[in-house]
Amino acid sequence: MRSLPSRVGNCAQCLKKIIEKRMIIIKTVSELESYVSRERNNGRSIGLVPTMGALHEGHLSLVERAVRENDDVIVSVFVNPTQFNNPDDLASYPRTEEEDCRQLARAGVAVAFVPEVSEMYPQGAVREKEFRLGTAAEVMEGKFRPGHFQGVAQIVSRLFELCRPNRAYFGEKDFQQIAVIRNMVESEGIDVDIIPCPIKRADDGLALSSRNALLTPAQRVIAPEIHKALKAGVEYSKEHGVGETREYVVGLIDAVEGLQTEYFEIVDARTLLPVEEWSESPEVQGCITVYCGKVRLIDNIKFR
Ligand code: PAJ
Repeated sequence: MRSLPSRVGNCAQCLKKIIEKRMIIIKTVSELESYVSRERNNGRSIGLVPTMGALHEGHLSLVERAVRENDDVIVSVFVNPTQFNNPDDLASYPRTEEEDCRQLARAGVAVAFVPEVSEMYPQGAVREKEFRLGTAAEVMEGKFRPGHFQGVAQIVSRLFELCRPNRAYFGEKDFQQIAVIRNMVESEGIDVDIIPCPIKRADDGLALSSRNALLTPAQRVIAPEIHKALKAGVEYSKEHGVGETREYVVGLIDAVEGLQTEYFEIVDARTLLPVEEWSESPEVQGCITVYCGKVRLIDNIKFR
């Protein structure tokens, strides 16, 4: 038998190792279902954090909150093919599964669910039904990535079905995704609390994203201009109308060589429909997508 560590520092390390050991990596649906039944029968609460891996501090902020608020946390790591409308985007999506699992173990997660595509889609990765996602799914990302939210709804509803979570955690970085998932939960009658979590940013303001790994060093230097322009837009909006503010922000971004705005919409934060006047809605959000070279970056900011 090994002797117990004498110093506090060692103890903390020891504890970390024990926690790391406790995480299990599940690859099959049947194993996941047995795990969930066992935990549910024991009256334990389950938190779910769905991800596509290539984990960063943004994902980990959701995981840490889930670990604080639930008895057991399941994190799924699955690059879901049915939500990609562009095959190149799917092929180039960064994958760092081993490192992801190490980070999750360190964070105190109970289960990393890391299925193969064939496990999640035994009939093939195609969409099978049309979810009712409301008008929130038709604008912005819905318009520029047709079918994207149907794919998100397909995988998230399946994960809800398998994990039966009490709470599921989503980042406000994907502001529209949260609204769409809330609509899906309502239309499917799923009993789960959707917990929105704030955007994590790098020190220079760039919203953390798995796709940032695809930026060249030169692109990484200009990418923070997106958040800078959004912040400048919020200041500008104090003295200007919605339309002018929109143009101002797009102008700032498109003036940077290497950045190209795909859309910038100023919307009601609940319906995600565009507003024309600041007074139209109590909560107004600005949602943007910008191409930095070939890398598609999304961000958003609260205006009111
Ligand atoms: P993915 O892009 O991996 O993101 C997983 C979760 O982490 C999402 O809820 C996302 O909003 C959140 N997240 C990403 N970057 C963040 C940041 N900088 N700050 C805070 N939260 C952040 O979103 C997806 O995967 C997929 O669509 C998924 C829901 C897993 C379905 O496949």
